[in-house]
Amino acid sequence: MVFKEDYSLKPYNTFGIDVNARYYLELTTTEQIQEFVNRHFPEYDNIVILGEGSNILFTRDYDGIVLRLNNKGIQLVRENKDHFYLKANAGEVWDDLVNYCIGHQYAGLENLSLIPGLVGASPMQNIGAYGVELKDHFEELEAINLENGQIELFNKSDCVFGYRDSVFKKDKKGKYIILSVTFRLDKLPVFKTKYGVIEQELKEMGVLSLSIEKVNEAVCRIRRKKLPDPKYLGNAGSFFKNPVVTRDIYEELINIFPGLVAFRQANDSYKLAAAWLVEQCGWKGKRIGNTGVYEHQSLVLVNHGSATGQQILELSMKIQETVHNKFGIHLEREINVI
Ligand code: FAD
Ligand code: EPU
Repeated sequence: MVFKEDYSLKPYNTFGIDVNARYYLELTTTEQIQEFVNRHFPEYDNIVILGEGSNILFTRDYDGIVLRLNNKGIQLVRENKDHFYLKANAGEVWDDLVNYCIGHQYAGLENLSLIPGLVGASPMQNIGAYGVELKDHFEELEAINLENGQIELFNKSDCVFGYRDSVFKKDKKGKYIILSVTFRLDKLPVFKTKYGVIEQELKEMGVLSLSIEKVNEAVCRIRRKKLPDPKYLGNAGSFFKNPVVTRDIYEELINIFPGLVAFRQANDSYKLAAAWLVEQCGWKGKRIGNTGVYEHQSLVLVNHGSATGQQILELSMKIQETVHNKFGIHLEREINVI
């Protein structure tokens, strides 16, 4: 257990924003978390649960308690003819879990490699990449109710997963601490390589026969080329979600902007590439003071040095305004602003 007062969160958020938490607490076991919620939580007015801070923008000092979970552990809880069921505690590093699965030939998470963050945050926005989302391999999660200290079990439908969305970002926002997540992994891999760039990368790698390792390697290679490493350039991945619009709106837009990048969804709606919208407004690679738009991916806002969270937020609002003026589309933030 670690407890600090007026503690800098700079090392604990991938934007590298230097704000202080009034109180900072790190807990390493589920029992400690339960004890904190039952005995000490009522003393604090505000709480933020922190994983690796890779989807958070701090815009001010935090006048409350920041609770960082460090409860680790991965356990095979059961298996049947087709699946392994693996329970991971919230404090496990997401990519360590992915590598654990690959090492044991448990298939399903290989497209989700190199996503920063901890397991506990992964259901929050139903993390996704390269044609796979967490919900595709989600079985259940345990979360502690901050109001009464009870541990509750959430199955897939309880979580109401959507694109970068779950009940924990909506009705149950700020009301639970996710303690562990159980995943359903395949004994017989079903490779998802239809996401264009994966096939291309596998070809360049000279792969003739697919394996969990090869798909994982292709995804890692793509991600390393496209996304900035927060160790060297502060960022939180995509700042905005890709907007989903009706067929009518899509058709209106494509008539005016024939280069529009859009992907048809199962329900006949269209997901627009927000990166393209932002790039068309001239933002790609732009820098304002210490804030900027990444030169290779215009959906990623970056901290070039000592930018404040407020400055990054202001840049994001300017981008939203120009995209709205040009395309009539509102870009919704993916990241959590505190
Ligand atoms: P944090 O940023 O610490 O927290 C995120 C939110 O979850 C906060 O609201 C926090 O309060 C809440 N929270 C965290 N843990 C818990 C808990 N145990 N219980 C309750 N609430 C909790 N995301 C994708 O989906 N796909 C990608 O491909 C992707 N690529 C990225 C690439 C880069 C370079 C970066 C920096 C980020 C990327 N992200 C991506 C975003 C981010 O990695 C994920 O959202 C990740 O799940 C966040 O994990 P975290 O532990 O850092 O969460
Ligand atoms: N594009 C541009 N300009 C750019 C970058 C991309 O025009 O600067 C266009 C390209 O045409 C490209 C399309 O946008 O084909 C989509 O780009 P990309 O494949 O890079 O994916 P994305 O939609 O920008 C999403 C996720 C990422 C995830 C990747 C891969 C969202 C908000 N973002 O990005 O997730 O890793 O797909 O699946 O859905 C994150 O959530 O933080 C994140 C990084």
